[in-house]
Amino acid sequence: MPVMLEQTLDYLVTNKSGIYFDATLGFGGHSEGILNSLNDDAKLISTDVDLDAFKFSREKFHDDKRIKLYNYNFSQIDIIAKIESVKNFSGVFADLGVSSFQLDNPASGFTYREDAKLDLRMDKSKAINAADILNTFPEEEIADIIYRYGEEKNSRKIARKICEGRNIKKIESTTDLVKIIDEITAPNYRIKTLSRVFQALRIYINDELEVLKLFLEKSVDLLQLGGRIVILSYHSLEDRIVKELFKYETLNCICPKDYPVCKCNKEKRLRILTRKPVTPLPSEIKINFRARSAKLRAAERVYEEKR
Ligand SMILES: C[S@@+](CC[C@H](N)C(=O)[O-])C[C@H]1O[C@@H](n2cnc3c(N)ncnc32)[C@H](O)[C@@H]1O
Repeated sequence: MPVMLEQTLDYLVTNKSGIYFDATLGFGGHSEGILNSLNDDAKLISTDVDLDAFKFSREKFHDDKRIKLYNYNFSQIDIIAKIESVKNFSGVFADLGVSSFQLDNPASGFTYREDAKLDLRMDKSKAINAADILNTFPEEEIADIIYRYGEEKNSRKIARKICEGRNIKKIESTTDLVKIIDEITAPNYRIKTLSRVFQALRIYINDELEVLKLFLEKSVDLLQLGGRIVILSYHSLEDRIVKELFKYETLNCICPKDYPVCKCNKEKRLRILTRKPVTPLPSEIKINFRARSAKLRAAERVYEEKR
């Protein structure tokens, strides 16, 4: 079930015959919603780095000529636009994170709830997976990853236990890691801790934060005047990046405060449409658990000439 679909469409679609970009196709929930709100002459380009999601959606949309699908990383939005000869988008959308299919499907190895190979790569062609990290990285580095990307304060203790564990038996499955964390975590904190450790490894392996920054910058470059960017995020690290980039793009000067005149070439390129992030209604959270932590931020491309 696509998260905050109605609010997404309200912010995103300003021209029913425009060209739109869905950066996180997944199983096509939002793409379908976007298509349903567009005219026959509109175009939607959607991408997903996950091959299963791409294949599923290719089948789902095979008879809709308005949509073009890519199995690319969304940070390659500029390359996709070039291939499609698209100069500007009317709207760019992303629903970050992993899909419920990835979470619910043990074979994709994204969930600690099922026994699976400890992988966590969205793009399976990437060289290094979660098991490689836990079995080969120094303890300090594992602790840093868990702290920085999982915001887990027991990162050092967890990293120590992981390194003790791997000396006895190689960590290969989600269950191997869950067992190690269970040994040192109070039952009340179990789910939170496991979620944070898995999130940290996933963000690190997929370089999610850097990729997100790159994607946002390129998206603003590619938005037409009046075009909208709408991002749904699910944890504070992602939301902070979206918030800060939007804020930066609203500035028309970044000179040090003591400069008498502006010397930078900074242009204001965005107007923020959501002063505070929009969150789902309680009625949606009730029927869609994944929606509970969603935050929607939206902005519009503007051009303000420098004085
Ligand atoms: C939350 S799901 C999207 C669900 C989708 N909106 C729907 O309604 O079905 C996020 C999707 O983004 C994909 N994804 C995550 N990071 C990506 C990236 N850097 N480039 C392309 N796809 C990415 C994941 O593989 C996943 O399928």
